[in-house]
Amino acid sequence: MQTSFRFFNQNLFRSNKKILFFLFVFIMGNVIGFLYEQCCKPSTTADFGGGSIGPHGVSALAHDLFNFETNSQVPEGLSKHVVSSKKAQANWYRKLSEAWKQTKPPPKTPEEATRLVIQTLKRHQKKDVEGLLAFYGLSQPDVLVENSTGVHLPAGVKFEMQTLPVDVKAIPDGDTITVYVSTTDPREATCVPGDVQAAAVQRSQARAQRNYTKADALHQEIINSGYRMISLQNKEEVLARKYRIRLRGIDAPESSMPYGKEAKAELVKIVQGKCLRVLVYGEDRYQRCVGDIYCNGKFVQELMLKKGCAWHYTAYDQRQELAKWEQQARAKRIGLWASSNPEKPWEWRKNKRQGK
Ligand SMILES: *[C@@H]1O[C@H](CO)[C@@H](O)[C@H](O)[C@H]1NC(C)=O
Ligand SMILES: *[C@@H]1O[C@H](CO)[C@@H](O)[C@H](O)[C@H]1NC(C)=O
Repeated sequence: MQTSFRFFNQNLFRSNKKILFFLFVFIMGNVIGFLYEQCCKPSTTADFGGGSIGPHGVSALAHDLFNFETNSQVPEGLSKHVVSSKKAQANWYRKLSEAWKQTKPPPKTPEEATRLVIQTLKRHQKKDVEGLLAFYGLSQPDVLVENSTGVHLPAGVKFEMQTLPVDVKAIPDGDTITVYVSTTDPREATCVPGDVQAAAVQRSQARAQRNYTKADALHQEIINSGYRMISLQNKEEVLARKYRIRLRGIDAPESSMPYGKEAKAELVKIVQGKCLRVLVYGEDRYQRCVGDIYCNGKFVQELMLKKGCAWHYTAYDQRQELAKWEQQARAKRIGLWASSNPEKPWEWRKNKRQGK
């Protein structure tokens, strides 16, 4: 009799605990909802390149991933934003829900969610990833930064980067530069792949233990992933991301063409050791960023054209001022224009491709 009473009592206590717990969750849910309405809800529906930014995008994504777990359905309407098939979409949602579950604590801010999506789907088409982010009103990190800092960039600019000092070895010819951007830059900080971050941490531990063989092997891993440790002037090292930049709107003679070496030397003279500002307009077929480059406030393409170190690349660029700067150099017969009939780099490349 006594035992059964105790048993009953315990059960009552257990179910009470359950009720209390649900009550707590219910109340907290309302409190959070209220706080969200009060402080976090976007006050405007400003368009940041696809949708409005706000926590609702994160919760909508979390909700859809949960749905996918239970019924394997991807949201209706996503197809309007992406090009890949429903089957491919299901594959993304499988990967994303797996990654979401493994992320502790789960993503809460748009930045965290964006980062998870970009990292998880990094092997998929960039257009699709952008479409998926746009569907949830999540922006690419670059767009977030540009807008939150209120920087107004010329039409057509996808993003802006500030580079670390340019190394002389990073300039193969007169219209291409390899640059590095520190991962302390807000646009970069949100998208460093997990394996790169881990390798950087392990490398610094290996160096602290003076195990340089291990440290070098880890650095090679980092390099293979498109990153590198760069020493700053104060001897400190930063993890930096590599970008290859194609100077927009100009075409310099190739290294083995007449004036190719001089064009390269001129570009080296302008940018070596300098931090550059690059406005990126897009990517070319070699996955290089096509951009306008500024060095200490000077437009690098302008300097190259005026010195007769490059042609205006009219097939890809119709800017009047670039045409004018080339014309000025031609009139003065400086640089490559000293020759009476210089070969156009694009024709030289075409002939080379055709084996002439
Ligand atoms: C920044 O936001 C505005 C809307 O507020 C938008 O028109 C603009 O395109 C955004 N900037 C970029 C570079 O996407
Ligand atoms: C360096 O690290 C490697 C890999 O962890 C290890 O095999 C090796 O014994 C270490 N060398 C020294 C000198 O500690």
